[in-house]
Amino acid sequence: MKILVTGGAGYVGSHAVKRLVAGGHDVWVLDNLAYGHRAAAPEERFVRGEIGDTPAVVKLLKENGIEAVMHFAAYAYVGESVTDPAKYYRNNVVGTLSLLDAMREAQTRTIVFSSTCATYGVPAEVPIPEDHPQSPINPYGFTKLAIEHALADYAHAYGLRYAALRYFNAAGAAEDGSIGEDHDPETHLIPLVLGVALGKRDHVTIFGTDYPTPDGSCIRDYVHVDDLADAHLAAIEKLADDDGPTNIKCNLGTGVGSSVREVIAACERATGKPIKVVEGPRREGDPPELVADPSGAERLLGWRARRLDINDTVASAWRWHSSHPEGYGE
Ligand code: UFG
Repeated sequence: MKILVTGGAGYVGSHAVKRLVAGGHDVWVLDNLAYGHRAAAPEERFVRGEIGDTPAVVKLLKENGIEAVMHFAAYAYVGESVTDPAKYYRNNVVGTLSLLDAMREAQTRTIVFSSTCATYGVPAEVPIPEDHPQSPINPYGFTKLAIEHALADYAHAYGLRYAALRYFNAAGAAEDGSIGEDHDPETHLIPLVLGVALGKRDHVTIFGTDYPTPDGSCIRDYVHVDDLADAHLAAIEKLADDDGPTNIKCNLGTGVGSSVREVIAACERATGKPIKVVEGPRREGDPPELVADPSGAERLLGWRARRLDINDTVASAWRWHSSHPEGYGE
């Protein structure tokens, strides 16, 4: 297929591009490089631009006969979404609606959308099934939920075919070491802990040690970014099948939870270095436990995460960080 990947120079997007190319698809990347890295995307068929530039996107879709879009381009800092919600609603909602306008005009009918477990808010049950009520607790989650609703409405009215994939905590890096995680600023647990091992930071702070979990720290479902990439490939191929589903909503997680303390211990094992830890207060808006019920993805996509052991995921992240201590260096 001919596929446009927005945000294809970002962390999850770049791993999906690599997988799509390996799967024999023709891929174009659209990225404004606000957070993405030029070196993370292929050299060919890269367009630096905005998803909100509808005429340019229409041209890109039409001129290249694009059949489907994978839409990763979004802002994804939960804390920043609270302090600067306008930035998030403008980009994640208005920008995505502009992209959907362009797709309608170009008659590109298929989209795979990066949604998030943040749409569930504080879960009433764990593991979280897809039919759990979606009640976000921050603007980031609301922007993603708004687009899930728009996709359902556009599917009904305009015949759009879509997948909304609700990621849990993306982690790890490509097995061949070519691409990995490089955020600026970095707020995610695993790269921060590995940054301590690299001597880039003095310590890591555990945000809350009094949660109602076995060791008192928060539990998350860390899903390997290459597994996420496989799920995107499966989703786009299902939607492309005329006899297949026209819409797919599912969790992408492992079904296995790891606490902050367990992640730090896995980082000590992977790096062979002791990690200095400071116990701090809770971070506002952090649910105690987020773990996917992954059975929907298995049923709908025939996909299941292959990397279930946090030690393997952390080891893959360490291969990238230890070989790229300055990330992409851009
Ligand atoms: N944590 C710490 N110390 C740190 C950083 C994180 O203890 O220095 C803890 C957090 O409190 C949380 C866990 O480590 O319990 C993971 O935190 P991350 O910031 O790595 O990830 P989040 O779970 O907050 O966020 C992820 C995605 C978001 C998504 C969210 C859904 O990065 O895009 O899951 O809740 F919205």
